[in-house]
Amino acid sequence: MRRLLLLSLAVLARCQTQTRFDCFPEPHGASQQACEARGCIWNQQSQPQSVPWCYMAPGVGYKLGSQSGATYSLKKNSGPKNPWGLDFPDVQLTTKTYGSILNVKITSGQRYEPPVDFPKQPATSSEQLTLSTDASTDVFSFAVVRQSNNRKIFDTSIGGLIFSDQFIQIATYLPSENMYGWGENTHQNIKHDFSGYLTWGMFARDQPPNSGSLDTMNLYGVHPYYMLVEPDGKTHGVLILNSNAQEVTTAPGPSLIYKTIGGNLDIYFFPGPTPEQVTQQYLSFIGRPFLPAYWSLGYQLSRYGYKNLDDVKARIGAVRDAGVPIDIGVIDIDYMDRYKDFTTGSNFNGLSSYVQQMHDWSMKLILIFDPAIEVDYPSFQRGISANAKFIEWENANQVMHSIQDMYPLAKDTKIMLGVVWPDNHVAFPDFFDPTSNTQNWWISEFKNYRSQVAFDGIWIDMNEPSNFGTNDPHPWYFDNPDHPNAAPLFCPMNNSWDMPPYLTHSVWRFGDASTGAYLATNTLCLLAVQANNQQRFYNTKNLYGLSEAISTQQALFQSTGKRGAVVSRSTFPSAGRYAGHWLGDNTARWEDLRTSVIGAQEFNLFGIPYVGSDVCGFNGDSNEELCLRWQQMGAFHSFFRNHNTIGAPPQDPAVWPSVAAASKKANLFRYQYLPYLFSLHFIASMNGGTVVRPVFFEFPMDTETLNLSEQFMWGKSMLIAPVLKQGATSVNVYLPEDRWYSLSDMTYGIIVSEGYRTMSAPTTSLIPVFVRGGSIIPRQTPAITTDATRQNPFEALVAPDANGNAEGVLYWDDGETIVKDFGSHPYHQWQYTYNFTSGGTTRLSIKHSKSTTVPVPTLDILEIFDFRGTPDYRSFKLNGQTVNINVQTSSYSPITKRLYISTKGLIDLSKGDVVLEWNSSSSSTLEFSPKMVALESNRYELKL
Ligand code: NOJ
Repeated sequence: MRRLLLLSLAVLARCQTQTRFDCFPEPHGASQQACEARGCIWNQQSQPQSVPWCYMAPGVGYKLGSQSGATYSLKKNSGPKNPWGLDFPDVQLTTKTYGSILNVKITSGQRYEPPVDFPKQPATSSEQLTLSTDASTDVFSFAVVRQSNNRKIFDTSIGGLIFSDQFIQIATYLPSENMYGWGENTHQNIKHDFSGYLTWGMFARDQPPNSGSLDTMNLYGVHPYYMLVEPDGKTHGVLILNSNAQEVTTAPGPSLIYKTIGGNLDIYFFPGPTPEQVTQQYLSFIGRPFLPAYWSLGYQLSRYGYKNLDDVKARIGAVRDAGVPIDIGVIDIDYMDRYKDFTTGSNFNGLSSYVQQMHDWSMKLILIFDPAIEVDYPSFQRGISANAKFIEWENANQVMHSIQDMYPLAKDTKIMLGVVWPDNHVAFPDFFDPTSNTQNWWISEFKNYRSQVAFDGIWIDMNEPSNFGTNDPHPWYFDNPDHPNAAPLFCPMNNSWDMPPYLTHSVWRFGDASTGAYLATNTLCLLAVQANNQQRFYNTKNLYGLSEAISTQQALFQSTGKRGAVVSRSTFPSAGRYAGHWLGDNTARWEDLRTSVIGAQEFNLFGIPYVGSDVCGFNGDSNEELCLRWQQMGAFHSFFRNHNTIGAPPQDPAVWPSVAAASKKANLFRYQYLPYLFSLHFIASMNGGTVVRPVFFEFPMDTETLNLSEQFMWGKSMLIAPVLKQGATSVNVYLPEDRWYSLSDMTYGIIVSEGYRTMSAPTTSLIPVFVRGGSIIPRQTPAITTDATRQNPFEALVAPDANGNAEGVLYWDDGETIVKDFGSHPYHQWQYTYNFTSGGTTRLSIKHSKSTTVPVPTLDILEIFDFRGTPDYRSFKLNGQTVNINVQTSSYSPITKRLYISTKGLIDLSKGDVVLEWNSSSSSTLEFSPKMVALESNRYELKL
């Protein structure tokens, strides 16, 4: 009875919050009259602002015509009509499975399919998803049901299905509000908000993020993917494979409304049931991330606006002199001759010998390359000779001759010319060229330039693609002394690509035609074509960065012969196979430091784990405290680069002694734990998964973790709680129910009890970091570069669980060989298992489950927390043979219960399986382990 009552209350609540399908999303012109002219309902009431006042009448949708197997033929019902185009009278819904992945596709005849090359490997899961349908009313609906508990994870009984050529909409109820992902946007919280209506744009745009306040604008990449934790902690993922301009609205219900202006509703459901399994399934489908070169996990120093090579040398020198571990110098467009790719400016004479110098220091060089190629210099000339293709006008009569005729090489072509950094007009390579001439020319340009300057990694920028000043009679660069007044591109607006009926939030967030906001703003005209007229830019724009990344990864491989790393500004699902990503042109503000913690977690969900922010902030002037905290946090992001804009004062760590000291500490910690970070990347590449991981991934049943935006994990074993607030000297961290050992200076090795804990975090210490009980973390004595660190002995940190057990893994390869496939790739893999028996034998077994000839340092140091017995150093046996432990360098404290075994050459990891055993006497007088206990002040200290 009570259940029934609750159920009816829930239904009532759902009816009361009937989701409104917005009928007037444009920024201007809404009125009762205009609304009703669209056949929609105007209801102003006293609703909160975010609720649409003009909305579609109930009954929008399709009804079932017929069904044949997994195909449902749907017919437009008699409900309201679509205001943005002619509803297709017939659409088809089909289902398909890829192992445990369920695909529901709604289409109509031959529609645009994004030309992405997903491996679509079937995934396995203990859970099954099935489709259920309801054709009992005029509004056909379907649900995706989790078989194990009958939960509808996607439920379109909310109605609202619309399918026309350039406007498509689908809506669903959601089983909970615990939704994560969608991008690329700046989210103020890791979990989405369903308290009102919030629409997020998804359309690749050269758009700096704004973290200062809630801002739903679309940024550089597009990721129509989310993950949702259901009420019982089971988790699923959903991908809508669509490359057009699109948007998503979170609404009360909780419900979701998705709209796109082309393609299909091609929806893939990943059953999980754990968040990490969802990610693995998603990545088996779209493709797993590339394995970054070992060195690329080192610290990078960059800036835009280096005056000359001496300036670079001075800053890198200062950081090295300050003893801050650094691996990579990054040079922005300043090195080029007037910003032309594959050239070196005279103020960077000597760059090639400086690279040799860097290599002698075991450092590496990453250079930036933009896609846009000036159309009057040798690189372009070679492209034309090689028959490379560029994004074009569809017809010769569309060409802007006032621009085109200035350039002999472009004059008689249909190439759409634009303006980016170079002085003269530019063309945009067509990476969808079916002949591969373009891709081959691109690769040969890199090879050619590499023979002059031996770069190691490639940074691709401006690839939304960005074009300055489109449709703007007075573009910003007219007033910039470093940029000639090249005539901007104007797009004809009398076409349905540049002016489709529904422009999406990605235009309306910025205005409309009356304020100069178009889909083509900051980019090329949407009517442009690629692939010999086979592809329309309207459909491919969001794929430009992905397509460039694919060719550029090949360029890197072929020019360096090594795996290196590519980072790309614009991304789309599967971009992680080819490139990493940085979070774009943030601002040197505390808010931006905070949102970058969220952004890095999101990109791990998207399959792009080599990600990070511009440390210390790009735009604006950084300051000592902010930069210090950002360095400390950034040391825990895979892509770790300090980057700054032109004209802003230097902000490398050597600028302030306090920042240098804190960075040195943070970087040494990172370098020490690189074997663990690298192993996480290895697993993510080989099997799929995240590296930086939201806390809820490991504890989805703990509802407290579901909105933890400000702390994150490294894999399943380390938890990081950065300082993100000005003036803060402590962090309030949430530790889920488990055993956690602090790795921070003042509380090193101490067990901190679960719950919210205030951890001291002065600027002079490492930020709070914890290791989870039950883990063995591989690490290495750190040095000033990753290369030098790799020569040092391995260490293992053992953090036992409450039963005295722990386990871990280590993956190791030469750090630079290109991974063709993991089956043939030369690498080592070890499985560590540790068991402690009180008063008895302790055993560390290391299984060498995969081996190769790649040299491996010896394992010299074991550090064991909470070791409850006094070890007998004479009892140590390695594979049954007595082994001498260096008692001078080893120690055990019955007070801290920390056992530290340090013996040169202790374990040769290259020689197969190893078992290390030893005895200890139980320390009966000290039968407790040190614990952090709460004091009244809510501070923690060691209690003995
Ligand atoms: C825009 C990029 O986002 C930024 O990182 C870079 O410094 C500038 N372009 C100049 O290349």
